[in-house]
Amino acid sequence: MTEQAIDKRRIAESFGRAATTYDQAAAFQRTVGGNLLARLSADYCPVAIADLGCGTGYFTRALHRHYGRPVMGIDLAEGMLQFARDASPDCGPWVTADAEALPLRAGSQDLIFSSLALQWCAHLQRALNEAYRTLRPGGCLAFNTLVEGSLDELRQAWQQVDGFVHVNRFMSETALRELLADAGFAQYRCEIEQHLLHYGQLSELTRELKALGAHNVNPGRPGGLTGRARLRALTEAYEHFRDNKGLPATYQVAQILLIKGPA
Ligand SMILES: C[S@@+](CC[C@H](N)C(=O)[O-])C[C@H]1O[C@@H](n2cnc3c(N)ncnc32)[C@H](O)[C@@H]1O
Repeated sequence: MTEQAIDKRRIAESFGRAATTYDQAAAFQRTVGGNLLARLSADYCPVAIADLGCGTGYFTRALHRHYGRPVMGIDLAEGMLQFARDASPDCGPWVTADAEALPLRAGSQDLIFSSLALQWCAHLQRALNEAYRTLRPGGCLAFNTLVEGSLDELRQAWQQVDGFVHVNRFMSETALRELLADAGFAQYRCEIEQHLLHYGQLSELTRELKALGAHNVNPGRPGGLTGRARLRALTEAYEHFRDNKGLPATYQVAQILLIKGPA
């Protein structure tokens, strides 16, 4: 198995394990996905709709209610899809697939919606190519993703502790804009939203990331357990960021709409 296939399996397993805890920990994910949904114009009437990286299906259901059409939920993690299927038997179909290799016919979709999933693709370009291929002329890819600066406090705190990469690397805004401009779409819009969350203790943030299944998959991650001493050192390092609201965690979210041109 290639390194990339192993990482995909790890991502799928990690999210699959988190399926039953995800919804309780996903307040920020709801806000960010809601902001993406709000960017779609009110008079837009897509017929064939897919929710890519649908997770527990929250936005699959929201799209289904909003447009009154069946919405295909696609995810890498079978555990997430099983949960989504059980929670919403009337919605779907639910399809296990990788955003970088979609099992969909060319030109078959009007709207591909994807919230906080594509930052897990090692090759965003491939996912953009797949979305382009599977959209009809005039179709829309609406997605959001995290860019550089996200979870930077955690990254810097770990850096002080052991120098290993513990936090996923996020693409720079400049690199993202270059990819979007080169992806072949007729139009694109990309806006950056900054979200600053606060936690009373570091353990609340780390517990939340675990409940979401958002584990680090970068090469260079350390193996083995996190020792008590390292955790204490991390807590001390993170405390330097404390402000009057608590321990901050920054997220930089790119909200993107891409329109495929006419044939
Ligand atoms: C943070 S969750 C977001 C779930 C949902 N969109 C939401 O907003 O609640 C990310 C989801 O993307 C899925 N995912 C990650 N990489 C993927 C890939 N290459 N193809 C399809 N889904 C992927 C994960 O399995 C996970 O369910």
